Amino acid sequence: MNLILFGPPGSGKGTQSALLIERMQMKQISTGDLFRAAIKNGTPLGKEAKGYLDAGKLVPDSVTIGLVEEELNKLNGQGFILDGFPRNVVQAEALGGLLKTLGLKVDYTTFLEVPTSLLLGRLTGRRVCKNCGTVYHIESKPSKVEGVCDVCGGQVVQRPDDKEEVISTRLEAYEQSTRPLKDYYKAKGNYVELDGTGTSEEVYARLAKAVQVKR
Ligand code: AP5
Repeated sequence: MNLILFGPPGSGKGTQSALLIERMQMKQISTGDLFRAAIKNGTPLGKEAKGYLDAGKLVPDSVTIGLVEEELNKLNGQGFILDGFPRNVVQAEALGGLLKTLGLKVDYTTFLEVPTSLLLGRLTGRRVCKNCGTVYHIESKPSKVEGVCDVCGGQVVQRPDDKEEVISTRLEAYEQSTRPLKDYYKAKGNYVELDGTGTSEEVYARLAKAVQVKR
């Protein structure tokens, strides 16, 4: 099973990907996570991407497409979830070309719809473990001990781009560049639009039903 999961910042792409890979042998390819790992490790890619992430702007297409190409080449037959890629029509066209070259196809393109009024609370309340990346929320999914990761004991912090002033730039980038992909993928078929409100498990139940995977 190969999926594209897209939607606005904070719509739950990472949360739903994590629930899917708990049940299915799939690899999550999250461009946001890959950029954050590169920044943490101080690699040349991280140095190039940092300014864009901190400002809430999209990393240039050539860099992002090259990164996804590397990940697709490492799959070895495993199914994938593309989380946060593509994010504009140029990336979507490039992805189409890459998949064709590799003889792969996407089974479903899934869009998570969440009203903007809910996104702000999800993003400002999100906390992540600096060490293992586990995602929390101060209200809907707090860690047992504040600031300490339940999984690895690492420090739980706010993402630098989850500050209100950066969130508005991310939402603008989404409206301008990513929302138009809805029409792009609707026209291609196998497009599923899901209500991303309710609890994470409720959203997962809708997703699992729509793409016919285990609940
Ligand atoms: P990226 O990391 O992809 O950020 P994003 O798209 O803004 O998405 P988020 O990670 O913020 O949210 P999410 O939808 O995964 O939500 P989550 O599940 O965590 O990208 C970051 C940056 O990298 C970009 O700004 C850009 O600079 C760069 N970048 C990445 N991809 C790029 C690309 N293709 N091209 C160019 N640049 C790129 O949930 C959010 C919170 O809500 C959590 O706290 C969670 O616990 C909570 N939550 C989730 N679901 C629910 C629910 N159902 N009910 C209540 N709370 C919930």
